Amino acid sequence: MHLVALGAEHFRNLATFRLEPHRRFNILEGRNGQGKTNLLEAVFLLSAFRSFRDAKNRELVGWGEETTTVYGEVVRRDIRRTVQVTLSAKGKRVALDGKNITRLPDELAHLNVVLFGPDDLVLTKEGPKERRRFIDRATYAVWPDYVTALRRYAAALKNRNELLRQATLGGLDGSVIQAFEHELVGHGARVIQRRLQFLATFQPHFDRVFDHITAGALKGGIAYRGFKGLEKGADLAGIEAGYAQALDEARATDMRRGFTSVGPHTDDLLFHINRRSARIYASQGQHRAFVLALKIAELHRIHEAIGVYPVFLLDDVSSELDAERNAQLMSYLDKAGGQVFITTTDRRFIHVDSDARVYRVADGVIRAE
Ligand SMILES: Nc1ncnc2c1ncn2[C@@H]1O[C@H](COP(=O)(O)OP(=O)(O)O)[C@@H](O)[C@H]1O
Ligand SMILES: [Mg+2]
Repeated sequence: MHLVALGAEHFRNLATFRLEPHRRFNILEGRNGQGKTNLLEAVFLLSAFRSFRDAKNRELVGWGEETTTVYGEVVRRDIRRTVQVTLSAKGKRVALDGKNITRLPDELAHLNVVLFGPDDLVLTKEGPKERRRFIDRATYAVWPDYVTALRRYAAALKNRNELLRQATLGGLDGSVIQAFEHELVGHGARVIQRRLQFLATFQPHFDRVFDHITAGALKGGIAYRGFKGLEKGADLAGIEAGYAQALDEARATDMRRGFTSVGPHTDDLLFHINRRSARIYASQGQHRAFVLALKIAELHRIHEAIGVYPVFLLDDVSSELDAERNAQLMSYLDKAGGQVFITTTDRRFIHVDSDARVYRVADGVIRAE
């Protein structure tokens, strides 16, 4: 899967552009603050219809402008699709093949991207939010209908939380809240089940890559941490029963605090190296090796699911990774054969000789060399 055309108007600081990206490597070189990450953000927007930075849509519109439009032409095997996203104060408009759509399609994803940026280097270190985002994005790429489960879960969660907020003001009986939990349990269990399925199928890829990156010296592991008892494993009915019980036990506390304290929205991934917590014990180099393996394994898992490599966006990690990890990353990407967009302040960091196009990014202007 690759972009044969990419363009935007009034997107952040970028001057209007239209590129015909290389089928393989696209190197975006420029000093800091010139618009390199903005360009990756535009590609990401075409895939997820939102930013990967915690940015509101209107912040993506160039200063002093009303509207921004980003478009791309995606080729997957021999099928060509166009996607266009328009953002303004009025909201977001998405068109696939010229037809406006009102919600993310839950059949085949039109454009899969895997992003690897400086923020990912904290995946093994910081809060669970990034890890949930990681597994949700990857799971969605493998099973696009996962987005439906997530959406329904979020709606049911909102309902329960609304009741819990009322409960903090007093006068609401626990049985009223319990009556709303049935739906939450059903959708939540489906989310958990999908995530567990994803991990089970992801782990072999991760193991292989991590083993290779660390030359067999370390064994990595990933575990799902959900409600108490889930670690023993269960089928959908078992997950539902366990989650219902966890909600039951949490209800009194939740009614005092005004929000739901248990469920997929609070679950986490535990990363291990040689059976010990990576977050607590890993060295800097081990953290990087782990994250690198997560990203490469994600690429392979998606390839396994959809039969083509997703577009890989690599934001300036060459300056964060050491020389050895960098070389490993590049050799993986070289072998994988998908389309790659790489930003860098110095192209000499990027060891690809052929099959590459270099773009210079300066003050928002993108120029092919
Ligand atoms: N909505 C916007 N309109 C115009 N310029 C913006 C907007 N948002 C960010 N910028 C500018 O974009 C630049 C940052 O671009 P970025 O792609 O992050 O740089 P880098 O090349 O270092 O990756 C900054 O100069 C910032 O002021
Ligand atoms: Mg940047």
